Amino acid sequence: MSRTSNVLAATAVLAVGGLLLAGVTDPAGAAGTGLKTLAEAKGIYFGTALTQSNLSNGTLTAVAGAQFDMVTPGNEMKWDTTEPSNGSYNFGPGDQIVSFAQSHGMRVRGHNLVWHSQLPGWVSSLPSNQVQGAMEAHITTEATHYKGKVYAWDVVNEPFNEDGSLRADAFSNAMGSGYLADALRTAHAADPNAKLYLNDYNIEGQNAKSDAMYRLVSQLKSQGVPIDGVGLESHFIVGQVPSSMRANMQRFTALGLDVAVTELDDRIQLPANSGTLAQQATDYAAVVNNCLAVSRCVGVSQWGVGDADSWIPGTFPGQGAATMYDNNYQPKPAYDATSTALGGSTTTTTTTTTTTTTTTTTTTTTTTSPPPNSTCTVTDSVNAWNTGLTESVTVTNTGTAAINGWSLAFTLAGGQTVTSAWNATISPAGGQVTAKNVGYNGSVAPGASVSFGFQATHTGNTSAPGDFTLNGTRCA
Ligand code: G3I
Repeated sequence: MSRTSNVLAATAVLAVGGLLLAGVTDPAGAAGTGLKTLAEAKGIYFGTALTQSNLSNGTLTAVAGAQFDMVTPGNEMKWDTTEPSNGSYNFGPGDQIVSFAQSHGMRVRGHNLVWHSQLPGWVSSLPSNQVQGAMEAHITTEATHYKGKVYAWDVVNEPFNEDGSLRADAFSNAMGSGYLADALRTAHAADPNAKLYLNDYNIEGQNAKSDAMYRLVSQLKSQGVPIDGVGLESHFIVGQVPSSMRANMQRFTALGLDVAVTELDDRIQLPANSGTLAQQATDYAAVVNNCLAVSRCVGVSQWGVGDADSWIPGTFPGQGAATMYDNNYQPKPAYDATSTALGGSTTTTTTTTTTTTTTTTTTTTTTTSPPPNSTCTVTDSVNAWNTGLTESVTVTNTGTAAINGWSLAFTLAGGQTVTSAWNATISPAGGQVTAKNVGYNGSVAPGASVSFGFQATHTGNTSAPGDFTLNGTRCA
């Protein structure tokens, strides 16, 4: 679709509503350079997830085609769809996604071959001595069906628990940890040209779970098992992109692996406001910049095109607004921040549509940066010894409104585990943690400060945390 026809399509959609809309941005982003074009110029891709039902939404598919060059089927290549009963395969829904991608010049990330979830009951009910055969048959049949059509496969999805132990599921129960290498080898035999990934969530920063993934892929590489990359799902909470994300990506790529941001979204407590949307823009830019800074980060994919397509509200009631596009496929500040991080200038199309047949389209170009919205500062100091440390944290309310109840999110350095805290409760004990006020120190007047502290064990990294977020707003 040409730029001109995108503008017309956008205008037509708005006209259907019969409303007078001013300052509405072209949903297909036609006036600006698509994210995919900017990403490609930087040597990466920019993708989205699409489901079968998405394909009948013309506005959504116009945005997808204009903006993204990689597609991950949201559900259509998962085991419960592709082999709902033993030996009986259904590739129809996945084929539709592949066909959409091909007709729009997009590549496909296959998602996924082996996963504990969306797994039909018959697999879990198999006697354990039949699971390996079923897994290998499934991988071989699906990867052969899509041979030459997928750029990469998430061969095994979400193999770890939060503490880094191997998730107990039909596969690990039957085969132990050896199922991972077996799955990769089987996929490689079926489609030797597809990039083979292990994919998981909460492995974006350095923590027990990403440490476990690191140990696993190091071992697989040293054993010559075919593995090409690690997928960082990146389902974030606004203001909580881990400060160790870039270093974490780098340690994986140092093993000779690719990394990809595979399912990016950044959820907000609803209703979103200008502050949380600005923080989301900051978060998106941080993620894109992390990928651009790591030479073997091959691309970023968002999980769904717009907020209306996101899994978040259904899974986290009261939260949402997690993507770059609002419910009407209008770009949000996160879109502009992403475009800017990819080297584009932010271009906003202002469209005015009247209830009559008169339509005026004007284009204005503005370069925006997220508005400063910080209303807090944090200072912290660490006292460390061999295997332990204490840390004191002082939060100052630099806003104009009193804070009544505070929640300070931050990421502990890898290997640090909180053992006790004072003037706050802290949970969980490691990784991305949240410190909350106790009964007597929840109110912080403008200009006032509150202090708390904690004791932790460490394994060598005594760094203080960074990226503090107070009640959803990042602190300066
Ligand atoms: O298809 C049935 C439909 O027949 C039924 O009426 C309806 C009633 O609930 O459910 C439909 O199935 C839903 C399916 O999506 C298709 O829409 C399931 O309930 C629902 O649980 C399922 O959710 C998917 C989720 O994975 C399952 O874990 C989401 O759409 C999908 O976006 C999500 O994607 C995962 C990635 O694969 C892995 N990483 C996390 C990510 C988010 O959870």
